[in-house]
Amino acid sequence: MRCGSHRRRRLGGTVRTRTTLPALGKLAALAAAALVLAACGGGGGGGGATAPGAGAGGEALTLGFSQVGAESGWRTANTKSVQDAAGAAGIELQFSDAQQKQENQIKAIRSFIQQRVDVIAFSPVVESGWDTVLMEAKRANIPVILTDRAVDSTDTTLYKTFLGSDFVEEGRKAGQWLVEDTAGGSGPVNIVELQGTTGSAPAIDRQEGFAETIAQNPDLKVIASQTGDFTRSGGRQVMEAFLKTHPDIDVLYAHNDDMGLGAIEAIEAAGKVPGTDIKIITVDAVKDGMQALADGKINYIVECNPLLGPQLMDLVKKVAAGEEVPQRVVTEETTFDTAAAKAALPSRQY
Ligand code: AHR
Repeated sequence: MRCGSHRRRRLGGTVRTRTTLPALGKLAALAAAALVLAACGGGGGGGGATAPGAGAGGEALTLGFSQVGAESGWRTANTKSVQDAAGAAGIELQFSDAQQKQENQIKAIRSFIQQRVDVIAFSPVVESGWDTVLMEAKRANIPVILTDRAVDSTDTTLYKTFLGSDFVEEGRKAGQWLVEDTAGGSGPVNIVELQGTTGSAPAIDRQEGFAETIAQNPDLKVIASQTGDFTRSGGRQVMEAFLKTHPDIDVLYAHNDDMGLGAIEAIEAAGKVPGTDIKIITVDAVKDGMQALADGKINYIVECNPLLGPQLMDLVKKVAAGEEVPQRVVTEETTFDTAAAKAALPSRQY
């Protein structure tokens, strides 16, 4: 809770309204003032330990979290990680699913501001168009944490920190595998690319990192590139169209496992063998993708770690307490070939 504020909370479908001081009788007002002072540590004692996830006054911190949607296996794992970590940290989570729409995220953030949550975190569906709402949060004195995806705001004071992967590096790792795989000089290599959501940080950055790296070998050419919106059905539909227009595809680079898995269905339906006739590189390393890699249908996966919840909750506590946090926290990630996928699968959490 933010000391000295009164807010409406929507919990489990019900709205809890905090009574404003002017509505109380004189005596009750005095009692309430004493309580607020105590809650804000104004009573002079201040020596008591606070519970995990509690603000300075001992009351549970409230985190407003606006999630992109449920477009992929990665996203489902990310949502679970955030929800589990909030529960474990004793942080009250106000969770909102934007269904891949920026306007829904802006509405959710405005609602969090109105409710006077302690901290707002969100994973921006696209990079642009956030300055106005972030300025509103700043004016309301509510710290904002970016998680998973970045915004392109030039004013970095609009948020406290950005926790998530280095998507350009992920694209570079995908490209590097292909550069090494084709190092023997195999002649022209026709690549098709399934991009993530148009305008999103991972789509922009994974395309950039990959293009920059494959430029080392002039034989490697992206002959078609289109969005599949990070979904399995999007991947299948776009790959079907690619296969009709380009009978000579050698490699598929998909910005996530789900689109790669959808594309595998299209490749098999076209009578080709995924992983052999068309080599496949994807990003994420969720269980289904790892299984396809172990089965030889995908050739290489660059990991994107969705388990951001525990680190996010640590940052929430710190920014709520007014502590300094790094402007950027980069997630640690690895890569998988078939052997590595087989070894990792039995203990894969997501
Ligand atoms: O922002 C992370 C990306 O979003 C994941 O790679 C993708 O699967 C998800 O939809």
